[in-house]
Amino acid sequence: ERLAVGIDVGGTKIAGGVVDEDGRILARTQRATPSTDPAAVLDAIAGIVEEFRDRYPVRAVGVGAAGYVDVTGSSVVFSPHLAWRNEPLRDAVVRRTRLPVLVDNDANAAGWAEWRFGAAQNLADVVLVNLGTGIGGAMVLDGKLYRGHSGMAGEFGHQRVVDDGLPCECGNRGCWEQYASGRVLERRARAAVAEGTDIGRALVELAGAVDLVDGATVGRLSSEGHEEAQAWVGDVGRWLGIGLANLAASLDPAIFVIGGGVSRTGEFLLQPARAAFAEHLTGRGYRSEARIVAAHLGNDAGLVGAADLARLRARRRRPAS
Ligand code: BGC
Ligand code: NA
Ligand code: ZN
Repeated sequence: ERLAVGIDVGGTKIAGGVVDEDGRILARTQRATPSTDPAAVLDAIAGIVEEFRDRYPVRAVGVGAAGYVDVTGSSVVFSPHLAWRNEPLRDAVVRRTRLPVLVDNDANAAGWAEWRFGAAQNLADVVLVNLGTGIGGAMVLDGKLYRGHSGMAGEFGHQRVVDDGLPCECGNRGCWEQYASGRVLERRARAAVAEGTDIGRALVELAGAVDLVDGATVGRLSSEGHEEAQAWVGDVGRWLGIGLANLAASLDPAIFVIGGGVSRTGEFLLQPARAAFAEHLTGRGYRSEARIVAAHLGNDAGLVGAADLARLRARRRRPAS
């Protein structure tokens, strides 16, 4: 058995799992992200590894981090959603676990998993767009993750789509992720709850309490047939499609895989996305059009990909026997 622990550190939660070499999750766990405290995030990562280690022969640890990871995979240099600034995460996790550790961007890990085991298996030009707290991106080109010059390629969420638009956690304005991520749904949900509108009340009822209302609640309400919730998801979908058309203009992939929590809304998101994509795609009618599909591994892609990348790396490093 070659097992690795994969840990996906997102803006709101940390998901961990023991993953085998076929990408199957044998055990899983989850906790809230201590978003303002890097030391507490490290504790959570080390705690998850400990938790699994008693029961499984774990060989490596992969961490997918919601932030900009340097090209050597040692530091998270910046994160819009978490307090990481030049955080030497890899060595810190090695010190705590005494295992081989790989750190990569969370969306890169998810894109890798979708290419290895999910919606984009064996395709040569794959772009993953992960709609979570923010928008993460990954490019798997000819079977390799494209990392760019400094490791930070694929930060699609921070392309400006509205001049002087909404402020973004990255410090800029008008970033795509302010219009097409889980945060958008969360923002609208909170406003509706505060205003006490019909949908606001429906959200509180579904969530069970005011504090439990988040972006995912809007997704669930839309699945239950609530038309206004579906319209909100549709708005996110339209912005998604516009951004995908921009990405197609630069990258011309065969397929866009849409992952992250928001992708659980399925066709409520993807239909408007495909329509807006078609409307905005340059050269339409004279070119092939990328397919736009939901991630097969859903929200597990990040942890599965992180584990797989770590397992492959650890195997390469071990002397041949
Ligand atoms: C960050 C990315 C991350 C994404 C999803 C973005 O705001 O810049 O690094 O992959 O959110 O978590
Ligand atoms: Na990325
Ligand atoms: Zn931004």
